[in-house]
Amino acid sequence: MLTRYLRLVVLLSLCITQQVFAQKFEELGKTPQMGWNSWNKFACNINEKLIKETADAMQTLGMQAVGYEYINIDDCWHGERDSQGNIRPNAERFPSGMKALADYVHAKGLKLGLYSDVGATTCGGHPGSRGHEYQDAITYAAWGIDYLKYDWCDSKDLSPVAAYTTMRDAIKKAGRPMLFSMCEWGDNKPWDWAKDIAHSWRTTADIYPCWDCELSHGSYSTIGVMRILDKQVSLRKFAGPGHWNDMDMLEVGNGLTPDEERAHFSLWAMLASPLISGNDLRSMSEEVRSILTNKEVIAINQDKLGIQAWKMFAEGNVEIWMKPLANNEWAMLILNRGAQSLTYDYDWLKHHVSDDLSKREIDFHQSSFSWTELWTKTSGDTRQNFKAKLSPHSVALLKLKPR
Ligand code: GLA
Repeated sequence: MLTRYLRLVVLLSLCITQQVFAQKFEELGKTPQMGWNSWNKFACNINEKLIKETADAMQTLGMQAVGYEYINIDDCWHGERDSQGNIRPNAERFPSGMKALADYVHAKGLKLGLYSDVGATTCGGHPGSRGHEYQDAITYAAWGIDYLKYDWCDSKDLSPVAAYTTMRDAIKKAGRPMLFSMCEWGDNKPWDWAKDIAHSWRTTADIYPCWDCELSHGSYSTIGVMRILDKQVSLRKFAGPGHWNDMDMLEVGNGLTPDEERAHFSLWAMLASPLISGNDLRSMSEEVRSILTNKEVIAINQDKLGIQAWKMFAEGNVEIWMKPLANNEWAMLILNRGAQSLTYDYDWLKHHVSDDLSKREIDFHQSSFSWTELWTKTSGDTRQNFKAKLSPHSVALLKLKPR
């Protein structure tokens, strides 16, 4: 009798411990994840040749060397489930199978990501993971998958917290560390509840490669760089190491002007968003490559404090964003949102910097900083005004170091 009772107690406490301690892989995403994703440029037009060539390009073109790590296959890789319900890749597009592809990517020191969805069907109409979460996580782990982007289509009667928690637990149970990237478009305020579920959550609708447009596709819209930026303003306090606000994949190299591309990349860096390139790496211009591989800009994104920038000042078309960095350094971004060039004359003394979140402050009457502008490589210090000509839709991005 007593042994049966004891057994029951042990069993119950095991269940409770599993519930309480079920968690994401905590060691991942300590800085915003960096990589590439197939969707923005290729949509459903993907196959294993593209993925291998992209991994080759990431290595040979210097992207891996500056921190890009994940090669992520988005929607449309799927074939049908087999008679046991196991998901299979589309055999025409991925004839060698996902395990072979993961081996190829891993041999380069890179990682492979996949895409699935909470619903029975993905946004592209392929099999989603609903009802197969544990089975799919085991399959992904067996293939050697390192990252899962998990979408929110066909989610009608699902609770977002429950659906994403189920997949988090399934991944944990499968036992292979996978970065868990939620793609729920900010619909259910994931920043309020997803910190312990995922390593990042999308905050908005899908990006479109324009500066400030909204493009309707009937039931949904895609939005430009400024529209995404404006939706981040109140979200910074929810982000930090291991749990990031995801402003969506980059459109650098997909049709913005070079100034817009530098601005887009700088803003995603300042706001500590994942940096997931979304262009054709195999054919990118040298200018696009140099934007995506600007080490100093990447270092701002990857700063170990993981504090998202805030909008400190706005006047007309100009905005100033500040990001506290480790070692008492700062990053400062001056944005010209407008379609006209402007000459900007910034008097440091007129701007007392004070951050409620990090409790960091700068009084330029008391202390001075040297600065470097990270795109032009010009430099100076804060004892004199900062003067810059800002072309339309552009930024100046300064790194400040105490003098
Ligand atoms: C949704 C996501 C996109 C992409 C597509 C794929 O729209 O938000 O990022 O994954 O689905 O169908």
